[in-house]
Amino acid sequence: MTLTDTPVLPSGYALHHLESATSTMDEARSLVAPNPDLAQVVWADTQTGGRGRRGRNWVSPAGNLYMTVAVRNEVPLAHAAECSFVAALALHSALIDLRPPLADKLSLKWPNDVLIGGAKVAGLLLELEAGGRWILIGCGVNVASSPDGMPYRTTSLLAEDAYVPAGQLLQSFVVELQKWRTLWLHDGFSPIRSAWLNHAKGLGAEVTANLSDRSVTGVFQDLDTDGALRLRRPDGEIMTISAGDII
Ligand code: BTN
Repeated sequence: MTLTDTPVLPSGYALHHLESATSTMDEARSLVAPNPDLAQVVWADTQTGGRGRRGRNWVSPAGNLYMTVAVRNEVPLAHAAECSFVAALALHSALIDLRPPLADKLSLKWPNDVLIGGAKVAGLLLELEAGGRWILIGCGVNVASSPDGMPYRTTSLLAEDAYVPAGQLLQSFVVELQKWRTLWLHDGFSPIRSAWLNHAKGLGAEVTANLSDRSVTGVFQDLDTDGALRLRRPDGEIMTISAGDII
């Protein structure tokens, strides 16, 4: 793969690079209906209304990567949330491709965070459009800086001595997303689940899952065959948190 400052995308993808956007999710949403035959990639240098999961803000200063990939959804809606694990694996692969020493430090946190040394370096946000005919995969990566004051540890690629220009990361992410998505669409969720578990943080250890209204802590038992997180609560009860909640 040739890496340049201007990303080169596989055929079938249109790239839109903006200095600023409210949110790349909204820009991508507005592009899919008029362009039914193309996947859309929206990249913004900053966002004024970037959003995270559960309606949280995603603070978006210049220097980091903010992008959304809009692709046709080719699975029944009940399975669409599996794409979240596909996207996390794609970002994991892209980072290791570009900065191989990260392999020892990167991990994945349910449902779709990417961590370096246990600190969050990237988040993914999935949304559906047009009644589920399109899936929007939002990706925010702390390239040059990470926010302070979060309820979890954060880091950036720069702070980890693993700086990658945002355009290169975007290009690798789109290429890896295409590979992992093809595997998912051909072979189903099983290989995705296995690969994700191989890189998961905290298997057999205590983890906290953030739900809309509360956080749940328990020992991470497994990822179900449909992507649900299984936790053993302190009272021994097994709690299953549906991956359907992700979108
Ligand atoms: C999370 O961890 O809560 C998900 C964060 C997703 C942030 C990205 S940045 C690009 C895209 N546009 C947005 O408004 N959000 C996503």
